[in-house]
Amino acid sequence: MSLTQSNYTQAPPAPPNVMVIFGPNGDLTKRKLIPALFHLSNAGLLPDSFAVLGVGRRDMDDASFRDLMAEHIREHVGAAFDQSVWERLVERIHYMKIDISEGADYERLRVRLGELDTQHGTEGNYLFYTAIPPSLFTRVTGYLGAAGLLQETENDWRRVVVEKPFGQDLESAAALNRELHRTMDEGQIYRIDHYLGKETVQNILVFRFANGFIEPLWNRHHIDHVQLTVAESVGVEHRGAYYEEAGALRDMIQNHLLVLLGFIAMEPPNSFESSAMRDEVNKVLDAVEPLSPEDVLTHAVRGQYGEGNLPGGEKVRAYRASPGVDPQSPIETFAALKLTMDNWRWAGVPFYLRTGKRLAAQCTEIAIQFKKAPTVIFKNTDVERIDPNMLVLRIQPAEGIHMSFGAKVPGQSMGVGTVNMDFCYEDHFGNKPATGYETLIYDCMNGDATLYKHTDTVEKGWEIVQSVMDVWTALPPRDFPNYAAGTWGPATADNLLKNDGRRWRKIKSSG
Ligand SMILES: NC(=O)c1ccc[n+]([C@@H]2O[C@H](COP(=O)([O-])OP(=O)(O)OC[C@H]3O[C@@H](n4cnc5c(N)ncnc54)[C@H](OP(=O)(O)O)[C@@H]3O)[C@@H](O)[C@H]2O)c1
Repeated sequence: MSLTQSNYTQAPPAPPNVMVIFGPNGDLTKRKLIPALFHLSNAGLLPDSFAVLGVGRRDMDDASFRDLMAEHIREHVGAAFDQSVWERLVERIHYMKIDISEGADYERLRVRLGELDTQHGTEGNYLFYTAIPPSLFTRVTGYLGAAGLLQETENDWRRVVVEKPFGQDLESAAALNRELHRTMDEGQIYRIDHYLGKETVQNILVFRFANGFIEPLWNRHHIDHVQLTVAESVGVEHRGAYYEEAGALRDMIQNHLLVLLGFIAMEPPNSFESSAMRDEVNKVLDAVEPLSPEDVLTHAVRGQYGEGNLPGGEKVRAYRASPGVDPQSPIETFAALKLTMDNWRWAGVPFYLRTGKRLAAQCTEIAIQFKKAPTVIFKNTDVERIDPNMLVLRIQPAEGIHMSFGAKVPGQSMGVGTVNMDFCYEDHFGNKPATGYETLIYDCMNGDATLYKHTDTVEKGWEIVQSVMDVWTALPPRDFPNYAAGTWGPATADNLLKNDGRRWRKIKSSG
């Protein structure tokens, strides 16, 4: 499974296959998928019997598609570019023009894949990647199914990577699942969340389960609360039209933050097998206490950025002034939730989740605040207060682990200061250039779905946020914009913790 494979050099190449990319001229393919294949090839993780088939509506042939990919690869791979690796990969890249909405074209696709099997020895194993707008996902899988291209045999496999967003709400996600299941088994569906391809997310599991001293502390007896932050300093840029349909709750909380929550709060699985891991994540989401409409008013906060200055001083426009955005838009660019769990390990421990655009830093982290130590032995000393210990798992930037603890201040009097211990993965293990998609693509080729989302995980995630979406839709915001770009979000987000006698961890602004 992925954990042992995180050291690329020790893992074997994936089995023979053709990766079929729908949407080969899109942003995702150029910026992430082809560079990820380059990194995998560079690490010796692609088999010799491998091909890529870009399937698009533009009039192109193999040569012009290869030229186009060659234009982008240097830009997105940077200093890691190696001409010999690229030459090995590029000769396996092909293109085919089809009309996605035309059933007969999938018959041609079947024939073309048969030819590639003969040419590259790919043995009839196909990984279909849907780098296309979500409205086209099931049209494509429906036609693939009708053409027999999702039919597996004992000797070959057929898998489909389904991009995000996976539905717009609980109902549409459930409908999408039903539609996918009409043509495939659950085991063939790989619902991607690229956050899970990041090394540190997997490192959470290793940190928790490979260190004997952590697990006994990982519960309501010792942990006061947990803060999960996914902060972006960027605005919506050119994706205003997309964001108007999404918002922070759908775009980030339903996706990334709830999965991070699953990994932080899960029970130790029996093994690192995909089904064991997913079961434990699903149990966490099951245990999250549903928010009633009244709870939403006190446990959920939304915000939208107005104009402001970034920490570096640059003045930036308001969300409502972005291209593609309604000047009266009610869409939230910030969301924070307080969630609790009804289970033995976490009863009474709040999990505070926050995410937003145009915040004061670009940063993803999980901060675990431990309960305060009793101060009784310091009662006749100069010590006035003792800060609680905090453990921070940083996912970006500078992936690492940071721990704060109390230490005696040198001198004759008794003073306790808070000191920090920092571990940075890059300092210790070096940095491997990666897009975040390498592990996920490699795992899919190997049939390992551990880091992909199961039907239940997606639907449980939607169930949690649906009650918030319902209330927010029924009660349009009256105070938007309610935070200035370059700050940490609306004041109401601070109150979410202040009301419980807590505060958000201070994260350094990035200028
Ligand atoms: N970009 C990212 O970083 C990112 C991150 C997470 C998830 N995603 C998801 O990945 C998918 C692709 O995103 P993207 O950013 O690459 O989008 P994009 O840049 O708009 O590219 C979309 C691709 O789909 C093709 N396409 C669109 N409508 C089509 C149609 N009717 N028939 C045939 N082909 C059609 C486009 O073809 P033409 O080039 O011919 O128009 C293009 O190749 C989306 O589901 C998105 O939500 C993207």
